Amino acid sequence: MSETVTNKTIEKIFITETEIKNRIEELGKEITSDFAGQELIVVCVLRGAFIFTADLCRSIDLPQKIDFMSASSYGNATKSSGKVTLEKDLTENIEGKNVLVVEDIIDSGLTLSYLINHLATRNPKTIKVCVLCNKPSNEQRNVKVDYCGFKIENDFVVGYGLDNKGFLRNLPYIGIVKK
Ligand code: IMP
Ligand code: MG
Repeated sequence: MSETVTNKTIEKIFITETEIKNRIEELGKEITSDFAGQELIVVCVLRGAFIFTADLCRSIDLPQKIDFMSASSYGNATKSSGKVTLEKDLTENIEGKNVLVVEDIIDSGLTLSYLINHLATRNPKTIKVCVLCNKPSNEQRNVKVDYCGFKIENDFVVGYGLDNKGFLRNLPYIGIVKK
């Protein structure tokens, strides 16, 4: 039977609601100025990035469309399975467009490098990557991150869209799970 995960599993609040809000405002300003006079297709990587994308897109003052895609490399474990599968593809045509991929977190970089390669085959004008959290383990695969909310250590974190076994995405802050 699947187990319910509650916030009792959280060791400490790692990034507060206010810190997240302030950082997203900064990211939004940076993206708005980098793409001044242009349009964006914001691609939210489900499910983890849904809350981050909802806040980030409202801090970007540019004409934009939002689309969604979903890949999974984790299954239900806290360790990567090493294999990525595409679960949901885009609806929009991205050919010749500026694409901003919004992801919750990069661990090994496997998921994002797979998604970027997949999107690149459709000839967008640019592909930029915005992640809420980047773990140092990404340095191995070296996915280029254009906009990073927070550099974190290799702890397992939850909240603000990030889950543990599907739970705790609704927490307004980012917390570290007890080891
Ligand atoms: P990667 O393919 O190893 O980079 O794994 C990235 C995906 O694993 C992310 O999109 C998340 O869904 C998930 N993930 C990685 N680290 C964490 C974490 O600390 N908490 C929750 N999900 C995580
Ligand atoms: Mg994810």
